[in-house]
Amino acid sequence: MSSKKILLGIGGSIAAYKSANLVRIFKKQGISVRCVLTKSAEEFITAQTLQALSGEPVRRNLFDQQAEAAMSHIELARWADCLIIAPTTANLAAKFASGIADDLISTLYLAANDIPVILAPAMNSKMLLHPATQENFRKLQQRGHYILESASGELACGENAIGRMQEPEKIAQKAFEVLGISQPLTPPSPKPLTVTITVGATRENIDPVRFISNRSSGKMGFALARAALKRGLKVNLIKAYCEQIPPENCQIFPSETAEKMLDTALNIANDTDIFIATAAVADYRPKKVLSQKHKKERDGALHLELIENPDIVATVAQLPADKRPKLVVGFAAETENLKNYAQEKLAKKNLDFICANDVSQFPFGGELNEISVISKNDEKNFNAATKTDIAEKIIDYLLSKIN
Ligand code: C5P
Repeated sequence: MSSKKILLGIGGSIAAYKSANLVRIFKKQGISVRCVLTKSAEEFITAQTLQALSGEPVRRNLFDQQAEAAMSHIELARWADCLIIAPTTANLAAKFASGIADDLISTLYLAANDIPVILAPAMNSKMLLHPATQENFRKLQQRGHYILESASGELACGENAIGRMQEPEKIAQKAFEVLGISQPLTPPSPKPLTVTITVGATRENIDPVRFISNRSSGKMGFALARAALKRGLKVNLIKAYCEQIPPENCQIFPSETAEKMLDTALNIANDTDIFIATAAVADYRPKKVLSQKHKKERDGALHLELIENPDIVATVAQLPADKRPKLVVGFAAETENLKNYAQEKLAKKNLDFICANDVSQFPFGGELNEISVISKNDEKNFNAATKTDIAEKIIDYLLSKIN
């Protein structure tokens, strides 16, 4: 049994109902918990419930004279060994980041300056991913606070995306760790999902200095990688030639030719949950790669015999079920008859999804894209937007489809 004391601030999100369970977990370990509610939190959970579970008075108001007489807010902050804010709303994060103290929780946050702070964000994914909110959380992290990454799943607003508050067991586990209480309460957290993305233009060698290639920039693949990293996924990049520098924190597998790319893809397919093929793979390669630089012929013409390259995404999609990633996703860049060609490719390559884009309107290398994600029974259209925006939508959509 522990003699530790936790101050639990509860913000106004639907996830507030989970805080009741958090209080129960702490009480089971003999930890004292005092709860503080924001005004909007009371729309989701009652002070009575928390009072009954914690066995302590619940505070809601900075100017409650009776409560302040019993224990002032400064004493309350001094009393605690740790401050947890679960759920942390976008509004609370903004107030904490800038030091605004206009209610009891935000005032307590400033007063609890010398104890560990754990924040469990919960909000709509757009609000969470807004640069303002991201900047606030970055500031709070730099201040040394523990921020429990939000999980992906169905949100109260009906979207299936990131923004769910971590489960009470996870929040409690972090608190035990921070307070030095050895309590293996929950099994180790599950492995993060792994996304493998093929990206760039393959280079098919003719001789040591020449090759056949194409104009793919790799921008879409990198945008998908960034969106996946932002959602806490592990990202492998099977990378051919790209103009740009890949995002940090990806595992990169340099694979310049189609054959090398296939080799790498087959090696890591088994450890991949979502395989996304954005690479522009040359359909053909020279049958023979010259070991010395080719010399110009006297009679002018040069005849190169080309043979077909392997289809990487199709080979991965056709692996046996125990080796195949859960979702295999291809891209179809077409200049006409977009949806029909995409449907054909989906079936022929055994893909789960194909992202169809019209390159006559949104050419290779551009900043904008418009994509339809097509599966056997469904079609989801993402209208013209930056590749970053489209990538975020595609990753959220795929995450909603994985089980
Ligand atoms: O058949 P097509 O080249 O139009 O198909 C495009 C899709 O297939 C893209 O997802 C591309 O990355 C993938 N692809 C592949 N290996 C190839 C050719 C295409 O993985 N040899």
